[in-house]
Amino acid sequence: MSTAAPEIKRGLAGVVADTTAVSVIDEHTGTLLYRGYPVPELAASCRFEEVAYLIWHGELPTPAQLKIFTAAERAARRVPRELTDALARLPLTCDPMDVLRTAVSYLGALEPVDEHPAGPPGTHPGADEGLDLEKSLSLWAKLPTIVAAEQRRRRGQAPIAPDISLAFAENFFHMCFGSVPDAEVVCGFEISLILYAEHGFNASTFTARVITSTLSDLYSAVTGAIGALKGPLHGGANEAVMATFEQLSAPDDVPAWLAGTLAEGGKVMGFGHRVYKHGDSRVPTMQGALDDLARRSEEGRQLMAVYDRLQRAMLESKGLYPNLDYPTGPVYHLMGFDRPTFTPIFVMSRVTGWTAHVIEQKAHNALIRPLSAYVGTSRRAVPDRPLPGQ
Ligand code: COA
Repeated sequence: MSTAAPEIKRGLAGVVADTTAVSVIDEHTGTLLYRGYPVPELAASCRFEEVAYLIWHGELPTPAQLKIFTAAERAARRVPRELTDALARLPLTCDPMDVLRTAVSYLGALEPVDEHPAGPPGTHPGADEGLDLEKSLSLWAKLPTIVAAEQRRRRGQAPIAPDISLAFAENFFHMCFGSVPDAEVVCGFEISLILYAEHGFNASTFTARVITSTLSDLYSAVTGAIGALKGPLHGGANEAVMATFEQLSAPDDVPAWLAGTLAEGGKVMGFGHRVYKHGDSRVPTMQGALDDLARRSEEGRQLMAVYDRLQRAMLESKGLYPNLDYPTGPVYHLMGFDRPTFTPIFVMSRVTGWTAHVIEQKAHNALIRPLSAYVGTSRRAVPDRPLPGQ
Protein backbone atom coordinates (compact mmCIF):
# COMPACT_ATOMS: atom_id res chain seq x y z
CA MET A 1 0.00 0.00 0.00
CA SER A 2 1.38 3.45 -0.94
CA THR A 3 1.89 5.89 1.91
CA ALA A 4 2.68 8.84 -0.40
CA ALA A 5 0.53 11.87 0.34
CA PRO A 6 -2.14 12.25 -2.34
CA GLU A 7 -1.83 15.26 -4.64
CA ILE A 8 -4.53 17.74 -3.69
CA LYS A 9 -6.00 19.88 -6.47
CA ARG A 10 -7.53 22.59 -4.33
CA GLY A 11 -10.62 24.05 -5.91
CA LEU A 12 -10.35 21.18 -8.44
CA ALA A 13 -8.06 23.53 -10.39
CA GLY A 14 -6.86 21.86 -13.56
CA VAL A 15 -8.97 18.73 -13.00
CA VAL A 16 -10.79 17.38 -16.07
CA ALA A 17 -13.91 15.90 -14.46
CA ASP A 18 -15.86 14.68 -17.51
CA THR A 19 -16.53 15.32 -21.18
CA THR A 20 -18.98 17.88 -22.58
CA ALA A 21 -20.24 18.74 -26.05
CA VAL A 22 -21.86 22.03 -25.01
CA SER A 23 -18.94 24.48 -25.06
CA VAL A 24 -15.16 24.70 -25.09
CA ILE A 25 -12.45 27.35 -24.93
CA ASP A 26 -10.45 27.03 -28.17
CA GLU A 27 -6.96 26.16 -26.95
CA HIS A 28 -5.25 28.09 -29.77
CA THR A 29 -7.21 31.34 -29.71
CA GLY A 30 -8.74 31.34 -26.21
CA THR A 31 -12.14 31.94 -27.84
CA LEU A 32 -15.21 30.43 -26.21
CA LEU A 33 -17.21 28.22 -28.60
CA TYR A 34 -20.84 27.15 -28.06
CA ARG A 35 -21.44 23.89 -29.93
CA GLY A 36 -18.46 24.82 -32.12
CA TYR A 37 -19.49 28.40 -32.94
CA PRO A 38 -17.29 31.30 -31.71
CA VAL A 39 -19.33 33.23 -29.17
CA PRO A 40 -18.28 36.69 -30.46
CA GLU A 41 -19.69 35.66 -33.87
CA LEU A 42 -22.92 34.48 -32.28
CA ALA A 43 -23.18 37.76 -30.34
CA ALA A 44 -22.67 39.74 -33.55
CA SER A 45 -25.32 37.98 -35.61
CA CYS A 46 -27.85 36.08 -33.47
CA ARG A 47 -30.77 36.83 -31.24
CA PHE A 48 -30.56 35.34 -27.76
CA GLU A 49 -33.41 32.95 -28.56
CA GLU A 50 -31.35 31.41 -31.39
CA VAL A 51 -28.39 30.90 -29.06
CA ALA A 52 -30.60 29.29 -26.41
CA TYR A 53 -31.90 26.90 -29.07
CA LEU A 54 -28.32 26.15 -30.15
CA ILE A 55 -27.20 25.41 -26.59
CA TRP A 56 -30.07 22.99 -26.01
CA HIS A 57 -30.34 21.36 -29.43
CA GLY A 58 -26.75 21.50 -30.71
CA GLU A 59 -27.63 23.35 -33.94
CA LEU A 60 -28.86 26.82 -34.81
CA PRO A 61 -32.60 26.75 -35.58
CA THR A 62 -34.08 26.94 -39.06
CA PRO A 63 -36.62 29.78 -39.45
CA ALA A 64 -39.46 27.27 -38.97
CA GLN A 65 -37.86 25.79 -35.83
CA LEU A 66 -37.23 29.26 -34.43
CA LYS A 67 -40.85 30.23 -34.96
CA ILE A 68 -42.13 27.24 -32.98
CA PHE A 69 -39.46 27.72 -30.29
CA THR A 70 -40.12 31.42 -29.71
CA ALA A 71 -43.88 30.84 -29.69
CA ALA A 72 -43.41 28.23 -26.95
CA GLU A 73 -41.19 30.63 -24.95
CA ARG A 74 -43.71 33.46 -25.22
CA ALA A 75 -46.59 31.17 -24.21
CA ALA A 76 -44.75 30.02 -21.05
CA ARG A 77 -43.86 33.43 -19.56
CA ARG A 78 -46.64 33.77 -17.02
CA VAL A 79 -45.96 32.41 -13.54
CA PRO A 80 -48.58 30.65 -11.40
CA ARG A 81 -50.48 32.97 -9.08
CA GLU A 82 -49.60 30.88 -6.03
CA LEU A 83 -45.91 31.44 -6.75
CA THR A 84 -46.36 35.21 -7.18
CA ASP A 85 -48.18 35.30 -3.85
CA ALA A 86 -45.49 33.26 -2.10
CA LEU A 87 -42.67 35.47 -3.46
CA ALA A 88 -44.52 38.63 -2.44
CA ARG A 89 -44.32 37.42 1.17
CA LEU A 90 -40.51 37.19 1.16
CA PRO A 91 -38.84 40.02 3.12
CA LEU A 92 -37.30 42.88 1.16
CA THR A 93 -34.20 42.44 3.30
CA CYS A 94 -33.28 39.26 1.39
CA ASP A 95 -31.17 39.15 -1.74
CA PRO A 96 -33.12 38.90 -5.03
CA MET A 97 -31.06 35.76 -5.74
CA ASP A 98 -32.78 34.22 -2.68
CA VAL A 99 -36.10 35.08 -4.32
CA LEU A 100 -35.03 33.39 -7.55
CA ARG A 101 -33.70 30.33 -5.75
CA THR A 102 -36.99 30.06 -3.84
CA ALA A 103 -39.00 30.55 -7.04
CA VAL A 104 -37.27 27.71 -8.90
CA SER A 105 -37.58 25.45 -5.88
CA TYR A 106 -41.29 26.30 -5.65
CA LEU A 107 -41.85 25.63 -9.36
CA GLY A 108 -40.20 22.24 -8.84
CA ALA A 109 -42.50 21.52 -5.91
CA LEU A 110 -45.51 22.09 -8.18
CA GLU A 111 -44.39 19.14 -10.34
CA PRO A 112 -45.64 15.71 -9.28
CA VAL A 113 -43.03 13.28 -7.93
CA ASP A 114 -41.36 11.33 -10.73
CA GLU A 115 -41.53 7.60 -10.18
CA HIS A 116 -38.59 6.24 -12.15
CA PRO A 117 -37.95 2.56 -12.65
CA ALA A 118 -34.28 1.64 -12.08
CA GLY A 119 -32.46 1.50 -15.43
CA PRO A 120 -29.22 -0.21 -16.42
CA PRO A 121 -25.97 1.07 -14.80
CA GLY A 122 -24.83 4.42 -16.21
CA THR A 123 -28.34 5.52 -17.12
CA HIS A 124 -30.23 8.13 -15.19
CA PRO A 125 -33.76 6.93 -14.51
CA GLY A 126 -35.01 10.49 -14.97
CA ALA A 127 -33.33 10.85 -18.37
CA ASP A 128 -36.17 12.01 -20.59
CA GLU A 129 -34.57 14.59 -22.83
CA GLY A 130 -37.84 15.79 -24.34
CA LEU A 131 -39.41 16.37 -20.94
CA ASP A 132 -36.28 18.07 -19.58
CA LEU A 133 -36.16 20.40 -22.60
CA GLU A 134 -39.77 21.35 -21.92
CA LYS A 135 -39.00 22.05 -18.27
CA SER A 136 -35.90 24.03 -19.22
CA LEU A 137 -37.80 26.18 -21.70
CA SER A 138 -40.53 26.79 -19.16
CA LEU A 139 -38.00 27.95 -16.53
CA TRP A 140 -36.15 30.09 -19.06
CA ALA A 141 -39.42 31.77 -20.08
CA LYS A 142 -40.56 32.41 -16.49
CA LEU A 143 -37.33 33.67 -14.91
CA PRO A 144 -37.48 37.13 -16.56
CA THR A 145 -41.05 37.58 -15.31
CA ILE A 146 -39.85 36.80 -11.77
CA VAL A 147 -36.72 38.98 -12.01
CA ALA A 148 -38.62 41.98 -13.38
CA ALA A 149 -41.39 41.66 -10.77
CA GLU A 150 -38.78 41.52 -8.00
CA GLN A 151 -37.01 44.68 -9.17
CA ARG A 152 -40.38 46.44 -9.27
CA ARG A 153 -41.40 45.09 -5.84
CA ARG A 154 -38.24 46.60 -4.38
CA ARG A 155 -39.15 49.90 -5.99
CA GLY A 156 -42.67 49.73 -4.53
CA GLN A 157 -44.17 49.19 -8.01
CA ALA A 158 -46.79 46.68 -9.19
CA PRO A 159 -45.60 43.96 -11.59
CA ILE A 160 -46.11 44.33 -15.34
CA ALA A 161 -47.44 41.29 -17.19
CA PRO A 162 -45.37 39.81 -20.03
CA ASP A 163 -46.20 40.93 -23.57
CA ILE A 164 -46.25 38.04 -26.01
CA SER A 165 -45.85 40.38 -28.98
CA LEU A 166 -42.31 41.18 -27.78
CA ALA A 167 -39.13 39.11 -28.12
CA PHE A 168 -37.27 37.85 -25.00
CA ALA A 169 -35.03 40.90 -24.42
CA GLU A 170 -37.61 43.55 -25.35
CA ASN A 171 -40.21 41.87 -23.14
CA PHE A 172 -37.82 41.97 -20.18
CA PHE A 173 -37.34 45.73 -20.52
CA HIS A 174 -41.10 46.11 -20.86
CA MET A 175 -41.72 44.11 -17.66
CA CYS A 176 -39.03 46.06 -15.74
CA PHE A 177 -39.72 49.60 -16.89
CA GLY A 178 -43.00 49.64 -18.80
CA SER A 179 -41.19 50.61 -22.01
CA VAL A 180 -38.63 49.25 -24.46
CA PRO A 181 -35.44 51.25 -25.11
CA ASP A 182 -33.94 51.86 -28.56
CA ALA A 183 -32.34 49.08 -30.59
CA GLU A 184 -28.76 49.88 -29.50
CA VAL A 185 -29.62 49.33 -25.84
CA VAL A 186 -31.61 46.16 -26.53
CA CYS A 187 -28.73 44.85 -28.65
CA GLY A 188 -26.19 45.52 -25.87
CA PHE A 189 -28.41 43.70 -23.40
CA GLU A 190 -28.82 40.75 -25.72
CA ILE A 191 -25.06 40.55 -26.21
CA SER A 192 -24.68 40.23 -22.44
CA LEU A 193 -27.23 37.39 -22.37
CA ILE A 194 -25.44 35.57 -25.18
CA LEU A 195 -22.04 35.95 -23.50
CA TYR A 196 -23.36 34.79 -20.12
CA ALA A 197 -25.25 31.73 -21.42
CA GLU A 198 -22.68 28.98 -21.01
CA HIS A 199 -19.12 28.40 -19.83
CA GLY A 200 -18.16 24.77 -19.32
CA PHE A 201 -17.70 23.34 -15.83
CA ASN A 202 -17.85 26.64 -13.95
CA ALA A 203 -18.88 26.48 -10.27
CA SER A 204 -22.65 26.79 -10.75
CA THR A 205 -22.80 24.42 -13.73
CA PHE A 206 -20.69 21.91 -11.85
CA THR A 207 -23.08 22.27 -8.90
CA ALA A 208 -25.98 21.47 -11.24
CA ARG A 209 -24.12 18.42 -12.55
CA VAL A 210 -23.25 17.18 -9.03
CA ILE A 211 -26.91 17.41 -7.99
CA THR A 212 -28.03 15.69 -11.19
CA SER A 213 -25.46 12.93 -10.68
CA THR A 214 -27.27 11.76 -7.53
CA LEU A 215 -30.35 11.11 -9.72
CA SER A 216 -32.01 14.26 -8.41
CA ASP A 217 -34.29 16.39 -10.62
CA LEU A 218 -33.74 19.38 -12.90
CA TYR A 219 -35.37 21.93 -10.55
CA SER A 220 -33.13 20.84 -7.67
CA ALA A 221 -30.09 21.20 -9.94
CA VAL A 222 -31.07 24.73 -11.03
CA THR A 223 -31.94 25.74 -7.45
CA GLY A 224 -28.45 24.66 -6.33
CA ALA A 225 -26.83 26.37 -9.30
CA ILE A 226 -28.50 29.67 -8.39
CA GLY A 227 -27.04 29.36 -4.90
CA ALA A 228 -23.57 28.85 -6.37
CA LEU A 229 -23.89 31.71 -8.84
CA LYS A 230 -24.88 34.14 -6.09
CA GLY A 231 -21.37 34.31 -4.59
CA PRO A 232 -19.12 37.26 -5.53
CA LEU A 233 -16.32 34.98 -6.75
CA HIS A 234 -18.78 33.82 -9.42
CA GLY A 235 -21.91 35.56 -10.76
CA GLY A 236 -22.20 37.99 -7.88
CA ALA A 237 -19.10 39.74 -9.23
CA ASN A 238 -21.12 41.88 -11.68
CA GLU A 239 -22.88 43.54 -8.73
CA ALA A 240 -19.63 43.78 -6.77
CA VAL A 241 -18.00 45.59 -9.71
CA MET A 242 -20.65 48.28 -9.58
CA ALA A 243 -20.20 48.54 -5.81
CA THR A 244 -16.53 49.33 -6.50
CA PHE A 245 -17.43 52.10 -8.96
CA GLU A 246 -19.76 53.59 -6.37
CA GLN A 247 -16.66 54.13 -4.18
CA LEU A 248 -14.64 55.77 -6.97
CA SER A 249 -15.96 59.11 -8.16
CA ALA A 250 -12.94 60.07 -10.34
CA PRO A 251 -9.93 58.34 -11.98
CA ASP A 252 -7.60 59.96 -9.47
CA ASP A 253 -9.35 58.04 -6.67
CA VAL A 254 -8.15 54.76 -8.19
CA PRO A 255 -4.48 54.53 -7.06
CA ALA A 256 -5.12 55.06 -3.34
CA TRP A 257 -8.23 52.87 -3.35
CA LEU A 258 -6.43 50.05 -5.15
CA ALA A 259 -3.35 50.25 -2.95
CA GLY A 260 -5.55 50.11 0.16
CA THR A 261 -7.63 47.19 -1.14
CA LEU A 262 -4.61 45.12 -2.15
CA ALA A 263 -2.72 45.96 1.06
CA GLU A 264 -5.63 44.49 3.03
CA GLY A 265 -5.45 41.34 0.88
CA GLY A 266 -8.77 42.20 -0.79
CA LYS A 267 -9.75 41.12 -4.28
CA VAL A 268 -10.82 43.56 -6.95
CA MET A 269 -14.06 42.23 -8.32
CA GLY A 270 -14.29 41.72 -12.06
CA PHE A 271 -10.60 40.79 -12.45
CA GLY A 272 -8.90 37.44 -12.79
CA HIS A 273 -10.26 34.11 -13.93
CA ARG A 274 -9.66 30.47 -13.09
CA VAL A 275 -9.36 29.48 -16.75
CA TYR A 276 -8.39 32.61 -18.72
CA LYS A 277 -4.99 33.78 -17.55
CA HIS A 278 -4.30 36.16 -20.48
CA GLY A 279 -7.69 37.82 -20.76
CA ASP A 280 -11.31 36.68 -20.93
CA SER A 281 -12.23 36.20 -24.59
CA ARG A 282 -15.76 37.51 -23.98
CA VAL A 283 -14.62 40.90 -22.68
CA PRO A 284 -13.87 42.69 -26.01
CA THR A 285 -17.41 42.01 -27.27
CA MET A 286 -19.03 43.25 -24.07
CA GLN A 287 -16.63 46.16 -23.85
CA GLY A 288 -17.70 47.26 -27.34
CA ALA A 289 -21.34 47.38 -26.21
CA LEU A 290 -20.32 49.24 -23.05
CA ASP A 291 -18.38 51.84 -25.06
CA ASP A 292 -21.43 52.49 -27.26
CA LEU A 293 -23.70 52.80 -24.26
CA ALA A 294 -21.35 54.92 -22.16
CA ARG A 295 -20.78 57.57 -24.79
CA ARG A 296 -24.50 58.37 -24.74
CA SER A 297 -24.41 60.12 -21.32
CA GLU A 298 -22.16 62.24 -19.15
CA GLU A 299 -22.50 59.64 -16.38
CA GLY A 300 -21.33 56.98 -18.82
CA ARG A 301 -18.30 59.00 -19.91
CA GLN A 302 -17.26 59.66 -16.32
CA LEU A 303 -17.72 56.02 -15.41
CA MET A 304 -15.52 54.95 -18.33
CA ALA A 305 -12.71 57.22 -17.20
CA VAL A 306 -12.62 55.40 -13.84
CA TYR A 307 -13.16 52.03 -15.56
CA ASP A 308 -10.16 52.50 -17.87
CA ARG A 309 -7.93 53.72 -15.06
CA LEU A 310 -8.72 50.77 -12.80
CA GLN A 311 -8.23 48.32 -15.66
CA ARG A 312 -4.77 49.77 -16.42
CA ALA A 313 -3.82 49.86 -12.75
CA MET A 314 -4.79 46.20 -12.23
CA LEU A 315 -2.70 45.10 -15.16
CA GLU A 316 0.30 47.14 -13.97
CA SER A 317 0.10 46.15 -10.30
CA LYS A 318 -1.20 42.54 -10.44
CA GLY A 319 -0.89 41.50 -14.09
CA LEU A 320 -4.61 40.68 -14.00
CA TYR A 321 -7.10 41.19 -16.84
CA PRO A 322 -10.81 41.94 -16.48
CA ASN A 323 -13.36 39.15 -16.74
CA LEU A 324 -16.84 39.42 -18.28
CA ASP A 325 -18.35 40.83 -15.08
CA TYR A 326 -16.17 43.94 -15.28
CA PRO A 327 -17.92 45.48 -18.32
CA THR A 328 -21.30 43.88 -17.58
CA GLY A 329 -21.82 45.57 -14.21
CA PRO A 330 -21.58 49.09 -15.72
CA VAL A 331 -23.62 48.01 -18.76
CA TYR A 332 -26.56 46.97 -16.58
CA HIS A 333 -26.23 50.10 -14.45
CA LEU A 334 -26.31 52.40 -17.48
CA MET A 335 -29.35 50.52 -18.79
CA GLY A 336 -31.20 51.48 -15.62
CA PHE A 337 -31.26 48.17 -13.75
CA ASP A 338 -30.82 48.26 -9.97
CA ARG A 339 -27.60 46.68 -8.74
CA PRO A 340 -29.29 43.70 -6.97
CA THR A 341 -30.90 42.77 -10.30
CA PHE A 342 -27.58 42.19 -12.12
CA THR A 343 -26.88 38.62 -10.94
CA PRO A 344 -30.53 37.57 -11.43
CA ILE A 345 -30.17 38.71 -15.07
CA PHE A 346 -27.15 36.39 -15.31
CA VAL A 347 -29.44 33.57 -14.13
CA MET A 348 -31.96 34.36 -16.92
CA SER A 349 -29.20 33.57 -19.38
CA ARG A 350 -27.10 30.85 -17.68
CA VAL A 351 -30.18 28.71 -17.05
CA THR A 352 -29.77 27.62 -20.68
CA GLY A 353 -26.24 26.31 -20.08
CA TRP A 354 -27.11 24.75 -16.71
CA THR A 355 -29.99 22.76 -18.12
CA ALA A 356 -28.03 21.66 -21.21
CA HIS A 357 -25.47 20.23 -18.78
CA VAL A 358 -28.18 18.58 -16.67
CA ILE A 359 -29.42 16.81 -19.80
CA GLU A 360 -25.87 15.85 -20.78
CA GLN A 361 -25.09 14.57 -17.27
CA LYS A 362 -28.25 12.45 -17.29
CA ALA A 363 -27.32 10.93 -20.65
CA HIS A 364 -23.97 9.62 -19.33
CA ASN A 365 -24.36 9.65 -15.60
CA ALA A 366 -21.79 8.77 -12.97
CA LEU A 367 -22.17 9.83 -9.35
CA ILE A 368 -19.78 12.75 -8.70
CA ARG A 369 -18.08 11.92 -5.43
CA PRO A 370 -14.38 12.86 -5.00
CA LEU A 371 -12.15 11.83 -2.11
CA SER A 372 -10.59 13.97 0.59
CA ALA A 373 -7.27 13.76 2.42
CA TYR A 374 -7.87 13.65 6.16
CA VAL A 375 -5.93 16.16 8.25
CA GLY A 376 -7.88 15.86 11.52
CA THR A 377 -7.01 14.24 14.86
CA SER A 378 -5.66 10.67 14.68
CA ARG A 379 -7.70 7.77 15.97
CA ARG A 380 -8.34 7.90 19.74
CA ALA A 381 -10.53 6.14 22.29
CA VAL A 382 -13.68 7.78 23.62
CA PRO A 383 -12.94 8.52 27.32
CA ASP A 384 -14.95 6.75 30.04
CA ARG A 385 -17.68 9.03 31.30
CA PRO A 386 -21.07 8.66 32.99
CA LEU A 387 -23.90 7.61 30.68
CA PRO A 388 -26.59 10.28 30.19
CA GLY A 389 -29.16 10.19 33.01
CA GLN A 390 -26.79 8.42 35.45
N1 COA B 1 -7.96 40.91 -7.22
C1 COA B 1 -6.81 40.84 -6.56
N2 COA B 1 -6.02 39.75 -6.57
C2 COA B 1 -6.44 38.72 -7.28
C3 COA B 1 -7.63 38.72 -7.99
C4 COA B 1 -8.41 39.87 -7.96
N3 COA B 1 -9.57 39.97 -8.61
N4 COA B 1 -7.80 37.54 -8.62
C5 COA B 1 -6.74 36.80 -8.30
N5 COA B 1 -5.91 37.51 -7.49
C6 COA B 1 -4.66 37.06 -6.92
C7 COA B 1 -4.92 36.26 -5.66
O1 COA B 1 -4.97 37.06 -4.50
C8 COA B 1 -3.74 35.32 -5.67
O2 COA B 1 -2.60 36.01 -5.25
P1 COA B 1 -1.50 35.27 -4.35
O3 COA B 1 -0.99 34.15 -5.21
O4 COA B 1 -0.53 36.34 -4.06
O5 COA B 1 -2.24 34.76 -3.13
C9 COA B 1 -3.54 35.03 -7.16
O6 COA B 1 -4.06 36.17 -7.84
C10 COA B 1 -4.31 33.80 -7.61
O7 COA B 1 -5.68 33.97 -7.26
P2 COA B 1 -6.71 32.81 -7.00
O8 COA B 1 -7.92 33.37 -6.35
O9 COA B 1 -6.04 31.68 -6.31
O10 COA B 1 -6.98 32.37 -8.48
P3 COA B 1 -8.17 31.53 -8.96
O11 COA B 1 -7.83 31.06 -10.30
O12 COA B 1 -8.58 30.54 -7.96
O13 COA B 1 -9.32 32.64 -8.94
C11 COA B 1 -11.08 34.02 -9.30
C12 COA B 1 -10.12 33.00 -9.93
C13 COA B 1 -12.07 34.44 -10.37
C14 COA B 1 -11.83 33.38 -8.13
C15 COA B 1 -10.28 35.24 -8.80
O14 COA B 1 -9.55 35.80 -9.86
C16 COA B 1 -11.18 36.25 -8.15
O15 COA B 1 -11.52 36.12 -6.97
N6 COA B 1 -11.60 37.32 -8.90
C17 COA B 1 -12.52 38.29 -8.37
C18 COA B 1 -13.95 37.79 -8.42
C19 COA B 1 -14.49 37.78 -9.82
O16 COA B 1 -14.35 38.73 -10.57
N7 COA B 1 -15.20 36.71 -10.13
C20 COA B 1 -15.82 36.51 -11.43
C21 COA B 1 -15.11 35.42 -12.18
S1 COA B 1 -15.72 35.30 -13.83
